[in-house]
Amino acid sequence: MIYKRYLLVFLSGIFILAGCETLRVSRPIMPVKEYEKMIAGRLDADYVGTARCLSACHSHDGIKHNFEASTMGAQLSKKSGMPIVDCESCHGPGSLAIEGITPEKVEQDRKEGKETKCKFETLLDFKTLPAQALSLICLKCHTANATFNLHNWNAATHSINDVSCSDCHKIHKGPDLIVSPKETSEMCYRCHQEARAEFSLPSHHPVPEKKVFCTDCHDPHGGVLSEKLLRKNTIKEQCTQCHADKEGPYVYEHAETMENCSTCHNWHGSVNNNLLIVREPFLCLQCHEGHRISSTSSVESKSSYYTRCTDCHSTIHGTDIPSASGKGRFIQ
Ligand code: HEC
Ligand code: HEC
Ligand code: HEC
Ligand code: HEC
Ligand code: HEC
Ligand code: HEC
Ligand code: HEC
Ligand code: HEC
Ligand code: HEC
Repeated sequence: MIYKRYLLVFLSGIFILAGCETLRVSRPIMPVKEYEKMIAGRLDADYVGTARCLSACHSHDGIKHNFEASTMGAQLSKKSGMPIVDCESCHGPGSLAIEGITPEKVEQDRKEGKETKCKFETLLDFKTLPAQALSLICLKCHTANATFNLHNWNAATHSINDVSCSDCHKIHKGPDLIVSPKETSEMCYRCHQEARAEFSLPSHHPVPEKKVFCTDCHDPHGGVLSEKLLRKNTIKEQCTQCHADKEGPYVYEHAETMENCSTCHNWHGSVNNNLLIVREPFLCLQCHEGHRISSTSSVESKSSYYTRCTDCHSTIHGTDIPSASGKGRFIQ
């Protein structure tokens, strides 16, 4: 495993030397230190604390109340009794932003019918920060140790493709920061429209019905080994997490087809019954020839057995029971 990883690093080294043009996105690869500098904020500013930040300005009261009611805002340091996370933990040091703002000035502005604005340009400008730097703001505290989900973050598809924590987690949407399974599909469809289309096909996993959730199968922060952010090592393991009856082993296996459920099934949705990639009998006829059967069968008409092979071969995923001829024909 480790050997393989070295090989990969070695090969990708060659790849980069061989031709940067072929890389999908051309963006400079920066050392983490550079991102750290970006999120340090203005070096000539000082941290002043939320109380001083917001004492004169009530336009952010809503944000403040929500934040203080959230798990993140409610954490107090055991040592100092001070909040562990405050506005400046993310927005950067605020002394320059509030410079010159006094209760008198706010009162004066109010009389003149003006709104007092802080110099927010001196705070971190989230709109221009690269995604990696934005995520680093959160990763300062949410290390893989503190937030276990994040142990695969750096190598995962989302972080590699410039999706940042705050693309999904809206810190100021309300006091509840937990993402409930029910809100995930809408969160994901914002960027994955094709998945929405797949889940509206006639046969689909009941995601729209809110019985199964994107996060049952995917970990948006990074999957185990697999590049599609799956929670399990293989598609089969992912499927049998819920469909344990299809796992086997059986005395009569359907050969190697069962190693990967997606030989026959789609994962999100399909126009065919039972999420099949191709409808019966064509699914079976990809690998088998059709056949006639002897008169002992109750189904005599040719058309019926060419429509649904599984009317007879009903234990198509494998069985422990031999057929009449003593073989594994998945008849029952
Ligand atoms: C955990 C990080 C974090 C903390 C703590 C935080 N913010 Fe924010 N804030 C953000 C992010 C990220 C944005 C950008 C908008 C977004 O993605 O939700 C933002 C946006 C804002 C905005 C712009 C208006 C808006 O809603 O887009 C204001 C104002 C603001 N924050 C004020 C505050 C105040 C006041 C506090 C302290 C009570 C605070 N923030 C604490 C991360 C944070
Ligand atoms: C200064 C440290 C710090 C920073 C920076 C920070 N967090 Fe947090 N966050 C915490 C702490 C402490 C908690 C509460 C304890 C916990 O649940 O881990 C928390 C809780 C959360 C929760 C809720 C977890 C729960 O179970 O209720 C979410 C979601 C979250 N943070 C996301 C973010 C995002 C996104 C960012 C970056 C925009 C961020 N945090 C930045 C320290 C931080
Ligand atoms: C693609 C969307 C997405 C991105 C990007 C993302 N998250 Fe999450 N996050 C979720 C979803 C959905 C959940 C809830 C399900 C789960 O636990 O996996 C969650 C859960 C969490 C939790 C646990 C609290 C909760 O809401 O259940 C924390 C803490 C957290 N994320 C922090 C982060 C941090 C820090 C980053 C960036 C390094 C990040 N997330 C990036 C979607 C995302
Ligand atoms: C802000 C946009 C954004 C959001 C929100 C988002 N994603 Fe993604 N996701 C991406 C990008 C960009 C990629 C990179 C691959 C691509 O181009 O599709 C990606 C890739 C993926 C992949 C791997 C696809 C592949 O071909 O390797 C999966 C699986 C995935 N996202 C699931 C989710 C889930 C589940 C959610 C919701 C919790 C979610 N995403 C939310 C932008 C997003
Ligand atoms: C029942 C499990 C399951 C659920 C639920 C699920 N997915 Fe997937 N998803 C998969 C599997 C399996 C793959 C393919 C993995 C592979 O090719 O290795 C996949 C692939 C993807 C991809 C990559 C593109 C593609 O279709 O190959 C995206 C993006 C994605 N899923 C997003 C989502 C979103 C968004 C949701 C929720 C709305 C969701 N998934 C719900 C199992 C699931
Ligand atoms: C989180 C649990 C879960 C996972 C993981 C899961 N399924 Fe399902 N599956 C369900 C549920 C729930 C249903 C709907 C059952 C019902 O309606 O009675 C379902 C239905 C199905 C159906 C029947 C669909 C229909 O139209 O009747 C098939 C086929 C199927 N799943 C295959 C798979 C495959 C293949 C995978 C792996 C890619 C998988 N499932 C992963 C929970 C899951
Ligand atoms: C050789 C093709 C094939 C493979 C491989 C396959 N299936 Fe199926 N599956 C079918 C067919 C055909 C049906 C419809 C059966 C019927 O109509 O009686 C079906 C139906 C199902 C159903 C819904 C009906 C039921 O029996 O509950 C589920 C769930 C399911 N498969 C899960 C799986 C899982 C999980 C895997 C991988 C471990 C898998 N299948 C692999 C062909 C296959
Ligand atoms: C991806 C190819 C593939 C698909 C699709 C497939 N099978 Fe198979 N099937 C095999 C292989 C390989 C074997 C084992 C080799 C053999 O003896 O023919 C097998 C074995 C069988 C057997 C036992 C044959 C014997 O000689 O012991 C039956 C019956 C069978 N399949 C029926 C079906 C039916 C019905 C379908 C459609 C629902 C189907 N298969 C779909 C590849 C496939
Ligand atoms: C009316 C019931 C019935 C239908 C429908 C049916 N089969 Fe069969 N099939 C059987 C029986 C019975 C056997 C022999 C069982 C035994 O050997 O004990 C068999 C045997 C097989 C075999 C084993 C190889 C052989 O020729 O002996 C394969 C492969 C097979 N069927 C595939 C299919 C496919 C593909 C379809 C759909 C196009 C299908 N069957 C439809 C009843 C049926």
